[in-house]
Amino acid sequence: MAKDTLSITDNRTGKTYEVAITDDTIRANDLRQIKVQESDFGLMTYDAGFLNTASCRSSITYIDGDKGILRYRGYPVDQLAENATYLEVAYLLINGELPTKSELDQFVSNVTHHTFVHENVRTFIDGFRYDAHPMGMLVATVGALSTFYPEAKHVLDGDIRRAQMVRLIAKMPTLAAWSYRHSMGMPFVYPNNEMSYSENFLYMMKRIAEPKFEVHPEIVRALDVLFILHADHEQNCSTNVMRGIGSSRADPYVAVAGAAAALYGPLHGGANEAVLRMLREIGSVTNIPAFVKEVKGGGGRLMGFGHRVYKNYDPRAKVIKRLADQVMDLVGKKSPLLPVAMELERIALSDDYFVSRKLYPNVDFYSGLIYEALQIPADMFPVLFAIPRTSGWLAQWEEMLLDKDQKIARPRQIYTGYDERKFVPISDRRPPAAPASHSKPRAETD
Ligand code: CMC
Repeated sequence: MAKDTLSITDNRTGKTYEVAITDDTIRANDLRQIKVQESDFGLMTYDAGFLNTASCRSSITYIDGDKGILRYRGYPVDQLAENATYLEVAYLLINGELPTKSELDQFVSNVTHHTFVHENVRTFIDGFRYDAHPMGMLVATVGALSTFYPEAKHVLDGDIRRAQMVRLIAKMPTLAAWSYRHSMGMPFVYPNNEMSYSENFLYMMKRIAEPKFEVHPEIVRALDVLFILHADHEQNCSTNVMRGIGSSRADPYVAVAGAAAALYGPLHGGANEAVLRMLREIGSVTNIPAFVKEVKGGGGRLMGFGHRVYKNYDPRAKVIKRLADQVMDLVGKKSPLLPVAMELERIALSDDYFVSRKLYPNVDFYSGLIYEALQIPADMFPVLFAIPRTSGWLAQWEEMLLDKDQKIARPRQIYTGYDERKFVPISDRRPPAAPASHSKPRAETD
């Protein structure tokens, strides 16, 4: 009769071990019993970049990368994008269920009444250089909120934890908009509590001197949909950082700052900015073949393409592609970069290099074109990713804190440096013979 176990024979010793399989997974720690000598540390797994290692059990987001499926708490993301608001989705991610009308009203009211930030935040945003990148300012200011809410360090107190979660979701758009205003040399605009979450963000970013600031409701809706699509994505790089920082019981403001820093990189949330710069560099459809040739020759990456888990069309990219058309129709201006993006996609999807590696457009490929149509500068794109991802980070952070299996995140390493060496006085030191190496494998140094 079939058993949910794995038998492993260690050919070094001839011994066989049996380890349990649960959810198609074995526990890495079960391998530690596999030793040659009793004094050995025991067998480890090596998985640089976590290609095949589950770091948690999670009930928040489900992805089937081969089928192009993304669900939050069981609901397909396209259904949520079609029918829900961003704050409804944030509630779902954090609480596990869609809110009733009264639950949603209460949540929206809580978030709306926490959108203001301490007046001193103005002062330190003012202190950034005139050309500071808004993402750098966002990372710094959200981390600095930790100093305004010292009680936030009591992360195991459910009420305190929830209060900070609401504050963070509420204040991210304010910090984001103010970072933008500073980088534009424009005065800060205070939140308007009469407006919805996304409308208020556009208002704080865009208002100049209009007696009544108005944005087309469909533009507000488009931004809300983009927020929904970016809200969570299970154990991506920044979420892993959020969980990692949170695992030391640091407060959620500094943990969100760390997660946002991870998001900033061009291989993650900074890709949307990189896509736009790439499309501008390509400039016209005629330059695409040469660009693709360069990528295939190892001269860079096709930004906005490829994903660690999607080996099929990213379901978020499908919705965003449609949205890009709608938004450009609404603003009455097609981006000259849209035909470049579409042709690039067409060529890449029929080119064996990309097809054989299963590289499809991801969420970042078309989102930048929407932001560009809304006249939002490229520097702000990763910031626009960080605002909605905050609810996902917080849901994952709280799940981690309440998970009895979790411990402080602390991976192992395979040490490749020198064995013990005797200290050399500075007068006796000589430059190493070229090529210098600080990481010789142990065997070579013995
Ligand atoms: N353009 C050209 N080649 C690529 C690309 C790309 N965008 N992505 C992967 N490859 C190649 C890569 O060179 C490698 O080829 P080979 O097997 O010949 O060495 C193969 O495909 C596998 O790539 P990998 O780097 O091992 O894949 P990964 O899972 O480690 O990386 C990724 C995933 C998203 C970092 C990568 O696809 C990439 O750099 N994409 C461009 C940046 C980007 O768009 N990032 C946004 C991701 S979606 C938003 C988010 O959630 O952050």
